[in-house]
Amino acid sequence: MTDRARHEWWQTAVIYQIYPRSFKDTTGNGVGDLAGIIDRLSYLADTLGVDAIWLSPFYPSPMADFGYDVSDYRDVHPLFGDLATFDRLVARAHDAGLKIVIDFVPNHTSDQHPWFIESRSSRDNPRRDWYVWRDPKPDGSPPNNWLSVFGGSAWEFDEHTGQYYLHSFLREQPDLNWRNPELRAAMLDNMRFWLDRGVDGFRVDAVHFMMKDPAERDNPPNTDLGLFAHKPMGAYDAQLHRYDKGHDDLHGVFRDMRAVLATYDPPRMSLGEIHIYDPVELASYYGTDLDELSMPTNFGLFKAPWTAEGVRAVVDGLEAAVPAGGWPNYSLGNHDDRRLASRLGEAGSRQAAVLLLGLRGAPILYYGDELGLREVEIPPDRLQDPWSRAAPHLGRDGCRTPMPWSPEPGAGFTAAGEPWLPLGDDHRTRNVQMQLADPDSLLNLYRRLLQLRRTSGPLRLGSYRPLDAVPAHCLAFVRELGAERALVALNFSAAPVTIDLPTPGGRIVVSTQRTHEGSDVGRTLRLAPHEAVIVA
Ligand code: GLC
Repeated sequence: MTDRARHEWWQTAVIYQIYPRSFKDTTGNGVGDLAGIIDRLSYLADTLGVDAIWLSPFYPSPMADFGYDVSDYRDVHPLFGDLATFDRLVARAHDAGLKIVIDFVPNHTSDQHPWFIESRSSRDNPRRDWYVWRDPKPDGSPPNNWLSVFGGSAWEFDEHTGQYYLHSFLREQPDLNWRNPELRAAMLDNMRFWLDRGVDGFRVDAVHFMMKDPAERDNPPNTDLGLFAHKPMGAYDAQLHRYDKGHDDLHGVFRDMRAVLATYDPPRMSLGEIHIYDPVELASYYGTDLDELSMPTNFGLFKAPWTAEGVRAVVDGLEAAVPAGGWPNYSLGNHDDRRLASRLGEAGSRQAAVLLLGLRGAPILYYGDELGLREVEIPPDRLQDPWSRAAPHLGRDGCRTPMPWSPEPGAGFTAAGEPWLPLGDDHRTRNVQMQLADPDSLLNLYRRLLQLRRTSGPLRLGSYRPLDAVPAHCLAFVRELGAERALVALNFSAAPVTIDLPTPGGRIVVSTQRTHEGSDVGRTLRLAPHEAVIVA
């Protein structure tokens, strides 16, 4: 039996996140579309060499939160194409050997979703209870002190029916009531709709918010100023978010979702977005019988200091907590965070590539990070993200800018004069075409790493064993599968280091410094400043 037969697909896959608005525009309106993704499948499957793509939302939506406010779970926004184009994308991706993961947004709909329009129409509408409606306090104020992630109270008063509705995010994103069995069944059916069209899994949005304290108690104040997330969230950080999310009943929801995914052959995947930094708590969402999320998203590396100790603590913590048979995952970029290259710099970007593709677990890469795209400074009159209006430092436009494919105007992304968000200033030099031509580029480092991971049993599936006897500022670990092994070593310091190897021998197969590749390694491994290597 091959390892592919013994493992679920996501245990051997590298997942690549695409923000559809910014990948490739085929209609000339400045916004990327599904046909553009079809156009670039060969880049993904052959040039780069990833195994799966995750698409951020492409559903019909008023775009208050750029598609995370869904007004129809069963269609495609005309900006992006239509269902026939989606079906073509699935078929072509599968032909190219790529799995398709789509974003599913279960915590809330758009306020323009027909369910919400019905729900808000009267107190006795059959869909009233599909959302969370509550009476005001006697003084007319909101039912409790819960806050919206995007600022202000999480409750919005509706004049027409005299009650408040709950919205954990924008007021245009009312929370669904997953305690209502009919709503729950309708949402699971929406998942089946896409599974029946051939999708291989879901990235499930904001899952931690799906179950709140049934008594809806006030959140306590956050006195130790610990942060909710890996970045400051403004006023939201003033509370401990004890009662507005993460209730134990979440486990039942995840089991229901998993049961749906398990009826397909082979079983389909769920990657649930949860911002929890305690690995034991995070790992509880795999389920005691591995019957909940296929993978709860691990944001640990975003929060960790970019040092050998910081990274090792995250990896060792997760390795210890993930239940047997569960599969870790790692990422360092997405559509909600500052660009990796702007956080970690050039050397850090190269190390991050080796780390993500060297670890045990699913690497989740964000489009453009393979080019080292920087956070783009967006002029105030071109800001799009609603969060940037609430709190400028939280704006996410800078990491969502168009993919630069080539040096020409429009960067091969669009034929329109202006893309929906500006291209980075450096797009004439930092683009796919030019990086492909430069053997030392970050893109070519990614390609070598992906090629190696594809053909290396230990890197895909081997165990993880950190080495303790390494110099300061070094992280080294062994990946082992049967008699085969690979060593991953990173030097986080600006000085060269020498590591004594417990088992000598091997060759540097990939290095952040290409000219070191092919060198034989004896008893000692010498690393240049900031170098990261894989020895096999
Ligand atoms: C998730 C998404 C984010 C979105 C929010 C509300 O955190 O990643 O982009 O704004 O959910 O749906």
